[in-house]
Amino acid sequence: MKGKFITIEGGEGAGKSTNLIFIRQYLKAAEKKVVLTREPGGTSVGEKIRDVLLDKKQIDISNDTELLMMFAARAQHIEHVILPALNAGDWVLCDRFTDATYAYQGGGRGIDNERIATLENWVQGTLRPDLTLLLDLPVEEGMKRANKRSEPDRFEQEKLEFFNRVRNAYLNMARTNTGRYRIVDASTSLENVQEQITQILDEFCVDNIL
Ligand code: TMP
Repeated sequence: MKGKFITIEGGEGAGKSTNLIFIRQYLKAAEKKVVLTREPGGTSVGEKIRDVLLDKKQIDISNDTELLMMFAARAQHIEHVILPALNAGDWVLCDRFTDATYAYQGGGRGIDNERIATLENWVQGTLRPDLTLLLDLPVEEGMKRANKRSEPDRFEQEKLEFFNRVRNAYLNMARTNTGRYRIVDASTSLENVQEQITQILDEFCVDNIL
């Protein structure tokens, strides 16, 4: 039996890392074998690509190069990690996927959605997430939270307007893909966020009779 493919998306400081661990625990308690992975990254080649993409000294990466590097890492990730896991019946829990490309390279950088869709179809074939959780909160709040952490990477150095475009792109996708998207209000307490996530996962598991 094929496993399920769940992705987590959100802006900076939305709490993805903490909540990914929470989701993994939920799924393990439901006796799923879970592969937790991330993009860009998830393979040794992908992690090298990630290092270049996030390196704040690499200021001269063009928008098209950035887009192609995201999909280069993704191609490797799909072939070597995601598809083998799904085909083995495992559940894949991925920290960001192609929606991040639509949000950051599309919304943020201004690349045409059609160009991204061409690469999506080419690299992924019919592979799409079964469920996407969007951890949403106002950009200013997310940036405050993120700033308390480590030094900003190449994306985190972007301006407020960039992240507002990213957030709007995510919200538009969530509103037009209601089948697989669930918006989580990430501006509340961690306890409340995790209650929302639990409800979404409960419904998802019931819908899939799992
Ligand atoms: P993370 O640190 O939140 O895991 O993500 C790394 C950064 O990469 C984050 O700022 C978003 C960015 N990103 C893109 O711009 N496009 C993509 O397709 C992906 C997967 C991530």
